[in-house]
Amino acid sequence: MLKGADFVTITGKTDTGVILMSIISRLKRHKAYSNYVIMSKFFGIMGVKPIHIILPVFLSFIAASFDGISLGLLVPLVKGVVSNNFYFIKEAAGLKYIVKFFPGVLLNTDSPNKNAFLFLIGLVLLFVVLKNALNYITSVLSAYWHGRFGRNIYLYVFERFLTFGKMFFDRTSEGYLIMIMNYSEYTMKVLRTFENSVNQIFTLAIYFTVMLMISWKLTIVTLIVFPILHYLLKAIVSRLYSIAQLTNASMIALQRNVFNILSCIPLVKVYSKEDEMKANFRNINEELRKLNLRSDKVGDLINPIQEIVVTLALLFMLAIVALLFAEGKPAEISVFVVFFYAAKRALPMFNIFNIIKTDFAQAKPPLRELYKVFDDTDKFVVAQGPETFKELQSGIELKGLNFSYVKGRRVLNDVNLYMEKGKVTALVGPSGAGKTTIVNLIVRFYDCPPGSIMVDNIDIRNFTLKSLRREMALVSQEALLLNDTLRNNITFGLDRKITDEELIDVSKKARLYDFILQLPAGFDTEVGDRGVKLSGGEKQRVAIARALLKKSEILILDEATSSLDTKTEQLIQAAIDEAIKGKTTIVIAHRLSTVKHADKIIVIEDGRIAEQGSLNELLKKEGRFYRYWEDQKFF
Ligand SMILES: Nc1ncnc2c1ncn2[C@@H]1O[C@H](COP(=O)(O)OP(=O)(O)O)[C@@H](O)[C@H]1O
Ligand SMILES: [Mg+2]
Repeated sequence: MLKGADFVTITGKTDTGVILMSIISRLKRHKAYSNYVIMSKFFGIMGVKPIHIILPVFLSFIAASFDGISLGLLVPLVKGVVSNNFYFIKEAAGLKYIVKFFPGVLLNTDSPNKNAFLFLIGLVLLFVVLKNALNYITSVLSAYWHGRFGRNIYLYVFERFLTFGKMFFDRTSEGYLIMIMNYSEYTMKVLRTFENSVNQIFTLAIYFTVMLMISWKLTIVTLIVFPILHYLLKAIVSRLYSIAQLTNASMIALQRNVFNILSCIPLVKVYSKEDEMKANFRNINEELRKLNLRSDKVGDLINPIQEIVVTLALLFMLAIVALLFAEGKPAEISVFVVFFYAAKRALPMFNIFNIIKTDFAQAKPPLRELYKVFDDTDKFVVAQGPETFKELQSGIELKGLNFSYVKGRRVLNDVNLYMEKGKVTALVGPSGAGKTTIVNLIVRFYDCPPGSIMVDNIDIRNFTLKSLRREMALVSQEALLLNDTLRNNITFGLDRKITDEELIDVSKKARLYDFILQLPAGFDTEVGDRGVKLSGGEKQRVAIARALLKKSEILILDEATSSLDTKTEQLIQAAIDEAIKGKTTIVIAHRLSTVKHADKIIVIEDGRIAEQGSLNELLKKEGRFYRYWEDQKFF
């Protein structure tokens, strides 16, 4: 590839524009830039504004200064106590300006020293209180903002999930999706690390200023300790990071394992796999325990190492003080107490650089994963156009419809059919033939090739999804129920208020009312996760009631009555027959008796249309349908 710089030498021109472009493009390819792009995108979504960064940084700076001042005030305090003379504070750098405001401090002739001593102590206390008050305000402010940032990012991720196509969810495990949601927390972690590190770096800088003011020579000696400490702790921190990665992987495995098992409890029980599952879980759990122990063992080394190295360094410096300043006055030497105090507090703070590195390194993989939620690649978002679908004029037509869920395996092959408005179209055929797939494409769970599904001669892709789905009611093969009450499940998704009469009426139509009457809580009965507390037939009847209530123009019944006994089915069939009057209906049924009343029957086999026509035509033809019919005659 030709790079910008090569280009300049080849053309022989030193066009500044070209050079600038090349520099910019190189910068853009740099890792830091992509991290920056990712983080700024995150911050944008979280609603982080410059003020949210600048204000805490500013407050941190002030707090650090107060910390520095209270530390600096210890110098005259110690000096005065040791020499039993405080008069020098009138001339002391910085301090003299404060003293000027309080001329009385040194005037008390009885005990000027005591007065000055108390005055200095008061000042130290004042600045310590101010510093802590500021820090507290900053923390509360940050907590308030962080709460909002967290809410924003969770909301955004959730909303993104809702826009993804069904295909995305087919291919992604629930455990993974929940994990991704939880990854949002890492954005906060990065922010918190950033704020903490700014705070610490300011404090560090101020401490060093105080130390420099006391003795630049000793400060340089201290600076030598820093790389040693940094180097020692770096090894530990990188070890911690690699353990954290393993822990993360084990956590994911554990989560997936638990999710999988809990969602298939009956399967586990009926095959008596409890012991095997337990052993499996125990292994991962044990692995996690060991990893955590390892992490603790390594992590707990940080403090002792820090303490020992810092103490060694301080002892070393003490020796230097003894050598260099042996002839100094005791009052001068005593000031070094303050220096040591500052050094002892400042040195461990150097670890902040390691902490920043590990925190960012740990947050990077999850954040990159979370970042994928932002773009539409592999999300199978179903295309939609600007048009609003109002009502069906003539009918729905499939034109040469081809479809595959996975590349290389056609599920629908050149399907051509016409479903007329107000008529009942039945799709029949063996299981796996592609009937549900056709319906899935019509309700737009999956995207179809342009021009292959036409609604009143307009490509279905031109309509908004919302307007299309408002006019479609679907009873799917697997009745979907929310973990909520029967009432909320039946009235789900309706934007109008449902009266009790209406609810009772529709329950009667769906042959659900007698069942509900038996329940102590009636319509307020909770159905459990995915409706586990109901039988298959009851779930289907809830789904039918829901679809009947929706009163949409197009009704799609995908084996809606397959879990019902023949008698209930016949009863419901009457209600359905009544409900579908004047509606455009698509029925998929295994029991051919239920498709008897269809205006048109379409036989699907292996993703193709094998036959189509009215019941009589198909029976007369004595083809495919005739054979199915003969097989199932007893219904
Ligand atoms: N989400 C999916 N991902 C991949 N393949 C699928 C998916 N859903 C269905 N299929 C496959 O498509 C074919 C047709 O399925 P489907 O339309 O459900 O059949 P039918 O409703 O006629 O029984 C089947 O072979 C099935 O394995
Ligand atoms: Mg099906």
